[in-house]
Amino acid sequence: MKEKEYSDIFSGFKGAQTDLIPILVRIQDKAGYISEQSVRQVSGFLKMSENQIYGVASFYPKFRFTRPGRKSIKVCMGTACHVRGGLFLSEAVGWKLGIAIGQTTEDMRFDFQRAGCLGCCTLAPVVKINEDVHSRMSVTRLKEILEKDD
Ligand code: FES
Repeated sequence: MKEKEYSDIFSGFKGAQTDLIPILVRIQDKAGYISEQSVRQVSGFLKMSENQIYGVASFYPKFRFTRPGRKSIKVCMGTACHVRGGLFLSEAVGWKLGIAIGQTTEDMRFDFQRAGCLGCCTLAPVVKINEDVHSRMSVTRLKEILEKDD
């Protein structure tokens, strides 16, 4: 993000430490993630150390610290999906793309996230790729989808 974008966001706040979460939400909404540069900017504005900011922000699963890929893969790990093979799907994504949960492939094609219940348990196991929900997913079908998607 550019300096002007940070100052636009900060202009709505007084600089109190209680502003941290709403500021991070705005940054993530704008940039898609919280970069190291963003943490430095917020640190300067709120007079908080970068470690304090990471400490608070990492408590909230909503915040991400890596740049999102063009396709965001979310493997549901809610109970219904977990018992129907969500863990195998998660391992398959990691193995196929060579990344761990929370990471993005070097070519920026995919990022890999774990999700809580996506609200369609009867279709378990479920994988969401961007806004598309793929139901009753199998490892084989998931690998085919990952190979096809660009
Ligand atoms: S547990 Fe996966 S959709 Fe509910």
